[in-house]
Amino acid sequence: MIAIGSDHAGFPLKEEVRAYLHEKNIKYIDVGCYSPERFDYAISAQKACDKVVAGECDMAILCCGTGIGISMAANKVKGIRACACSDYFSAKYTRAHNDANVLCMGARVIGPGLATELVEVFLKTEFEGGRHQKRVDQITAIENGEKLY
Ligand code: RB5
Repeated sequence: MIAIGSDHAGFPLKEEVRAYLHEKNIKYIDVGCYSPERFDYAISAQKACDKVVAGECDMAILCCGTGIGISMAANKVKGIRACACSDYFSAKYTRAHNDANVLCMGARVIGPGLATELVEVFLKTEFEGGRHQKRVDQITAIENGEKLY
């Protein structure tokens, strides 16, 4: 199950993502927003990320204007590793190396064609573990207030 969400600026791209998931028979929960009317990205980020952390959803895909504000908000939720991506390589390796569980994209940055490619590679790429596990654990340690140095 995938959570999807956006603010007003990301709404058109979130709708493209929704159509893509529907076409591919991938189950999703749309946490909103549901129209291009002004809507703050932090609300959708928290709603979607809470579902990921609770185990109700495996991952989330979030859209705002730049992909940045919504990724910053998402990364404030404990247990979330969100990455704002606008290229294929980053979308692939944030899964493979960072075990990212949230993909963020900017509707004012990329078009629907690239966005669906990023969604596809993000969802299909497995975390490689190994040497990368230690680094992801260090991110979690920072989140838990531990000092790494
Ligand atoms: C909304 O106008 C815009 O600021 C927002 O979607 C996002 O780009 C912020 O990071």
